[in-house]
Amino acid sequence: NSRVGIGLLGLGTVGSGVIQIIKEHQEELQHQVGSPITIEKVLVKDVEKQRSIEIDTDKLTTSPDEVISDPDVDVVIEVMGGIHEAREYILKALQQKKHIVTANKDLMALYGPELLKAASENQCDIFYEASVAGGIPVIRSLVEGLSSDRITKIMGIVNGTTNYILTKMSQEGRSYEEVLAEAKELGFAESDPTSDVEGLDAARKITILANLSFATNVDLEDVVVRGITTVTLEDIEYCEQLGYTIKLIGLAQRDEGKLELTVQPTLIPNSHPLASVNDEYNAVYVYGEAVGETMFYGPGAGSLPTATAVVSDLVTVVKNMKLGVNGRSITGPLHSKEMKSDEE
Ligand code: NDP
Ligand code: HSE
Repeated sequence: NSRVGIGLLGLGTVGSGVIQIIKEHQEELQHQVGSPITIEKVLVKDVEKQRSIEIDTDKLTTSPDEVISDPDVDVVIEVMGGIHEAREYILKALQQKKHIVTANKDLMALYGPELLKAASENQCDIFYEASVAGGIPVIRSLVEGLSSDRITKIMGIVNGTTNYILTKMSQEGRSYEEVLAEAKELGFAESDPTSDVEGLDAARKITILANLSFATNVDLEDVVVRGITTVTLEDIEYCEQLGYTIKLIGLAQRDEGKLELTVQPTLIPNSHPLASVNDEYNAVYVYGEAVGETMFYGPGAGSLPTATAVVSDLVTVVKNMKLGVNGRSITGPLHSKEMKSDEE
C-alpha cells in the first residue's frame, strides 16, 4: 500500500485540474489502485506566479531534473505543452524508468512512434487519452472497443476552441475576435491559438486517430488542412438559411487502399447529429464495417474534463504497476500496410 508519487510537468489549465481531481477524488482513486497518490514535484516556468489552485510552494520548481530524477516520483504527468522540451523531458524520464501520462497531441502526432518505442524498451507505460477530444475516452474506445472491426471512416469535431467560436458566432452573432478572446480566457485555446484556428490542432488529433485505427503509418503532412480564420458571420448566416451549420471537421477515410485526410470548415445539414455539437464540445463519428455508425460525444477541452482523462490514464498506469505489466501502452495495429494518400 505504499504511496504512488507523481511528478507534474506544468501547472496551467490541465495541471491544475489534475491536482484538483487527485485531491478531491483521493478516496475513489485509492479504491481503484489501493494506494494513496501524492504530488511530489511540479515543474513551472514561474514559481512566483499566482495560482488558481492551492499548492505547497516548496513543491514548485523550474528545474525539470528535480521532477524527473526525484526518487519519490513513479509517474511523470506531462501537461506543459510544446514539442521539443516536452519530448526531451519525457525521453529522460523514460530512461529513469518513470511511467508517462501526457495530454500533448502536438508531441504525440509528431513523435508518438519514437516515444512508444522508448517506453516499451524501458518497460514503461505511456498513455495519452487526453491528447484527443479532451474528456471523451475516444482513444481507448477505438483501440480496445473496436479493435475487431475494420474502421473505414472517422469524422470528427475535435477542436473545442474553433467549435466554441463557430457556435457563438452562429447563435449569438458575436465577432470571431471577441469569441476567440473568450475561448482563451476559458482555457480551451492553446497558449498560441494559431494552431487551433488554422486547423493544425485538429490535424494532429486526426493523425493520432488514423494511426490508431488504420493499419498504416500516417504523417501529419499527409493531412490537407484549412482552418476557420476566413469564415465570416455572413457565411454562417447564409448557410443557416440553407439549412446547414458550418463545423470544422477532421476526416480520415480509407477506401480500397486510398487514404483521405482532411481538416476543413464543412457544411453539415442541420439534421445531422454533428450539427448540434456546440460550444467546446467534441464529437467523433466512427464508421466500422461490422459495427456501423458510432459517435463519441463530450467536452473536448477545459480543465476538469481534460484532467479526468489524464487521471484515468494515471489509474491505468498504477494498476499496471501493481500487476507488474507495464510496457504495454496503447498502440494501433502492430503490423502496418502500405496505403496511398490522395495527395500523392
Ligand atoms: P497552460 O498554458 O495553461 O499551462 C502550461 C503549464 O506548463 C504552465 O503551468 C507553465 O508554467 C508550464 N510550462 C510551460 N512551458 C514550460 C517550460 N518550458 N518549463 C517549465 N514550465 C513550463 O496549458 P494547458 O494546461 O492548457 O495545456 C497543457 C497541455 O495539455 C498542452 O499540451 C495542451 O495541448 C494539452 N491539452 C489542453 C487542453 C485544454 O483544454 N487546455 C485539453 C487537452 C489537451 P507557468 O504556470 O509558470 O507559466
Ligand atoms: N486547444 C484544444 C482545443 C484543447 O480547443 O480543442 C484540447 O485539445
